[in-house]
Amino acid sequence: MTVVELRPHPAKFSDAILEVLQSTLDAESRRHQRHLRVLDPMAGTGKIHELAGATTLGVELEPEWAAYHSRTVVADATALPFSDHAFDAAITSPAYGNRMADAHEAKDVYKTGPRAGQLTDRITYRHKLGRKLSPNNGGGLQWGAKYQELHLRILAEMVRVTAPGGLVVVNVSNHIRNHREVDVAGWWREAMVRTGLLVPEQDVTVPTPRMRYGQNHGARVEHEWVFVMRRRDETVCRPQVR
Ligand SMILES: C[S@@+](CC[C@H](N)C(=O)[O-])C[C@H]1O[C@@H](n2cnc3c(N)ncnc32)[C@H](O)[C@@H]1O
Repeated sequence: MTVVELRPHPAKFSDAILEVLQSTLDAESRRHQRHLRVLDPMAGTGKIHELAGATTLGVELEPEWAAYHSRTVVADATALPFSDHAFDAAITSPAYGNRMADAHEAKDVYKTGPRAGQLTDRITYRHKLGRKLSPNNGGGLQWGAKYQELHLRILAEMVRVTAPGGLVVVNVSNHIRNHREVDVAGWWREAMVRTGLLVPEQDVTVPTPRMRYGQNHGARVEHEWVFVMRRRDETVCRPQVR
């Protein structure tokens, strides 16, 4: 038996986001009047499993993060190992294409605050994982064409495995690059609508927790987004995991 070492994760769902997801799920359970099957195709440490009132399944590319929870499997979200319409909801948070995607071993030091002069925590996917990310990991892509291409494939898979009438939910945020706000969230919302299969139900904003120190201290966006969209066609499909 191979034992996988757990590694810290740089970008888990915050409690505030989990609250939004829980109330979305509660409303959905009332609507369907039955237990729901929920997939997080980029589950990280598996915070999705903290949601109550649903059977949750996670998919995560990196074994060191998947191993946090027994209901998270190691797989690639660009090729989900599930049949069409297998879930009532696909809920996830992708990487944001920001500096967390940096792959180099930066030697930045805090310029201000009580830790001035000390090496920064280097809150990147690469650094927290402790090795190179696997191919197809969106956490290694800076905002741009490659980021978009990979995430369009993941989005298409999320739509494929969601039953008609079910929900596709994405939590995402903009970020500041070169003193300008990069509209990653706007791109996600448009990409979801452009699938032609998703109808926006709710755009929720949640205040972004602020970092107290570090390079981007004071250069944070005000809030992140949760986009809740319903898959077209009310046909009832029996959820089944392959
Ligand atoms: C923003 S984090 C999600 C964190 C998660 N919500 C939590 O609470 O721990 C995005 C995750 O997607 C994973 N990921 C990126 N590309 C992936 C892919 N192609 N297939 C599966 N997982 C992927 C990354 O490894 C990372 O853990």
